[in-house]
Amino acid sequence: MSEHPAAAKPLTSRKSGALCGAFSVPGDKSISHRALILGALAEGRTEITGLLESEDILCTARALQTLGAHIEKTDAIWTVIGRGLGGLTSPPSDLDFGNSGTGARLMMGVVAGHPLRAVFTGDASLRKRPMGRVLDPLKRMGLTIEEEGRNTLPLTLLGASNLAPIVYRLPVPSAQVKSAVLLAGLLAPGETSVIESEQTRDHTEKMLGYFGAGVSSRPDREGGVRISVEGRKTFKGKPVAVPGDPSSAAFLAAAALLCPGSDIVIRDLLINPTRTGFYETLREMGADISFENERELNGEKVADLRARTSRLHGVEVPAERAPTMIDEYPILAALAVFARGQTIMNGLAELRVKESDRLAAMAAGLSACGAQAEARGDTLAVTGLSKVKGGATILTHLDHRIAMSFLVLGLAAEEPVTVDDASMIATSFPEFRHLMEQAGAVIEEPEAAPHAQGIASG
Ligand code: S3P
Repeated sequence: MSEHPAAAKPLTSRKSGALCGAFSVPGDKSISHRALILGALAEGRTEITGLLESEDILCTARALQTLGAHIEKTDAIWTVIGRGLGGLTSPPSDLDFGNSGTGARLMMGVVAGHPLRAVFTGDASLRKRPMGRVLDPLKRMGLTIEEEGRNTLPLTLLGASNLAPIVYRLPVPSAQVKSAVLLAGLLAPGETSVIESEQTRDHTEKMLGYFGAGVSSRPDREGGVRISVEGRKTFKGKPVAVPGDPSSAAFLAAAALLCPGSDIVIRDLLINPTRTGFYETLREMGADISFENERELNGEKVADLRARTSRLHGVEVPAERAPTMIDEYPILAALAVFARGQTIMNGLAELRVKESDRLAAMAAGLSACGAQAEARGDTLAVTGLSKVKGGATILTHLDHRIAMSFLVLGLAAEEPVTVDDASMIATSFPEFRHLMEQAGAVIEEPEAAPHAQGIASG
């Protein structure tokens, strides 16, 4: 049986000429989730501009509304009227997070500190993803799970008004786990700390600081960074301008590097160093990219990115870089197919528990396109060839980034590439097709029903 909803929408990309123009990509997904959540926990009004209006974010907005927060959109501004710390109320219906691991996990941290019962659920992809990594520390703080021993959605969570503060060393480098513990810590008395040995995206702590909550980061004695929040300290709503999402821009930039004669600019892009590992890797591969006009936007660094067609060569990407480009490996793997020599990506264990098993999905899809790719353990190795055949239909496993990566690959392959379902792209980047077409990419509905070939082996 297909894991895709009945409304699966196949899409095909074909060899394209120069991509040109200046673009803005939609707001950063991570910052958008956090702006809504912190707005709901703040006192008073938070006005958000540039919010990403994708399915994942709308799920978080709906969940917060179901918990009693007031959220509305007028013109281009999203307004959240916060309930103050501890002010959310019992949800009259289930909280459905769709495809969004970030929404579900961050909101588990929020619900933990409220004395209410909430059922968390999601789509077929999210229902397979591990929740134990978040539930373990939250249970230590006082959260109860009705389905004891179960670590996947749907789950019934019972929050508490008397959470205990903890010091938690992250066993996996995950900003979602870090953020869930810090959000729960906002509602526990005293100081809650998370220690991370590898730095993950730091938007939660940055935004907490911007909102005036009690938050601090300092080096930990045993190595790594210790991030602490002071619980039960109220904070007030503030305006948030969401910068462009570097993870979405990666697809447009990659397409420009591949298509001959391209020259594009992507404006107002988030360039927080915990998010730019992909661009660092591109530079090492010989890509003609630059960040121009660097500036700051509510505590986050932004710039305009220029990308031009480039002759790339393979590189070995160190495991330590993985947290800063964790969502960009699928598109890097697609690019590596066109680079001279081998690209080896190390330390990718976390890719196996994303919206799909991205290691297996990429290796299978690339092989179906005639490329040389091998996933072994937590490493993905891709050997660049001067030409890639394409001509395959790829199984995307409900994963937006697998879909976008193969549509970009199809722009430079010999034969068109079809993805079995492009509908999931709406979870993070609803404007993807429109922006790509505006730039000059050829993307179209396939003529006949596709026959999927990118069957994952893992
Ligand atoms: C995110 C953290 C990352 C990333 C996800 C967004 C966040 O997940 O893959 O797309 O906003 O905190 P992990 O925390 O599981 O690494």
